[in-house]
Amino acid sequence: MLIHLIVAARPNFMKIAPLYYALKKEDWAVPIIVHTGQHYDLNMSDAFFQDLGLPEPDLHLGIGSGTHAGQTSQVMIAYEKALLERRPDLIVVVGDVNSTIACALVASKISYKPTNPSNSINHPKRPLIAHLEAGLRSFDRTMPEEINRLVTDAVADILWTPSPDADDNLIREGVIQEKIHRVGNIMIDSIEMLRQKIQKQAVYEEFGFKPGDFGLVTLHRPSNVDDPELLKQICQTLTRIAQTIPLIFPIHPRTLKNLQQNGLMSLLKQVKGLLLLKPLSYIRFMNLVFNCRFTITDSGGIQGETTYLGIPCLTIRPNTEWPITINHGTNHLCTLENLEKRVEATLAGKAAQGSTPEFWDGKTANRVVKTIKSLHPQWL
Ligand code: UD1
Repeated sequence: MLIHLIVAARPNFMKIAPLYYALKKEDWAVPIIVHTGQHYDLNMSDAFFQDLGLPEPDLHLGIGSGTHAGQTSQVMIAYEKALLERRPDLIVVVGDVNSTIACALVASKISYKPTNPSNSINHPKRPLIAHLEAGLRSFDRTMPEEINRLVTDAVADILWTPSPDADDNLIREGVIQEKIHRVGNIMIDSIEMLRQKIQKQAVYEEFGFKPGDFGLVTLHRPSNVDDPELLKQICQTLTRIAQTIPLIFPIHPRTLKNLQQNGLMSLLKQVKGLLLLKPLSYIRFMNLVFNCRFTITDSGGIQGETTYLGIPCLTIRPNTEWPITINHGTNHLCTLENLEKRVEATLAGKAAQGSTPEFWDGKTANRVVKTIKSLHPQWL
């Protein structure tokens, strides 16, 4: 069974790696990594392949940055060609980036020509489409990622969900129960896969910190970093927080560009207690997550990782597609107005304790493989 595992942007790599390894062990599966090239920098892509021990992608579409329409359509055109040439039986898309929707949409409309015209009735017309991390909803359609999630789930044949709320969302949207398989959070598999390597490092020491005496910041959502006035206010708030507890801030390329264009980077560089870094590789970054006092973020992945690790997470967003991290975990949604109070409460030991959601146990990839086997025994 030829399986395309699609990766595109930073948060995809740690979702695909555990599945790649689990499929590699199966004699019926031929997993192929397809990189669309949405993220292309050494530290946004290659460093993750290295840390996760992934081989070079079998196929690189080399698309890069662009407007939403430009990026999505270029991935669609390139992937259509690749699908027709390579004819996978199953494609797996993950998360909610532009390449996720682009590849799912192409695969849903492709039509393979029969290889044997005398047996054209039984030949597969198109690959099955599976979405890993299906069903998550922020209910905020101003987020490009929410549109990507909705459309991808609408065309997928197999929906692997991380939590009961995701199952409920799909059922409410009319998806039949048979398509939905709750498998857990695949990102936890990567943490467990690399736990020893993550814990062996002491990245914080390079910057003169000890475990628990710094906060970790990541920001990249367009809603936070694209509006110059809001970005300025975020910088001012971080500057004030850094006077109470030092902050480590690895800066995403989108955020860096906006900070530079608005003259904010030079100001931030002068702030005592604020350590500005380039984006970090997976193992180095996770070492900081394991050892920080709290995170301030707008990332989806970090909300899940901190819930699993029991680290307080302050999310600068009005909503989240991961409500389980609030109801069961350590996540708090914050506004810029109450962020400092939240930091104070966290430092005073008043953060949510949280518990680990069901199936967030490092075994999600095995459950995914089991569902593929149970769905299509004729391929085995
Ligand atoms: C994308 C995803 C988002 C995900 C995030 C993780 C969409 C709509 N957004 O957002 O869901 O959470 O990735 O990082 O798919 N850039 C570089 N180097 C790179 C990649 C990007 O410099 O390796 C620059 C681009 O030139 C662009 C900016 O960063 O100006 C944004 O990149 P883009 O891929 O459009 O979206 P992200 O904001 O990274």
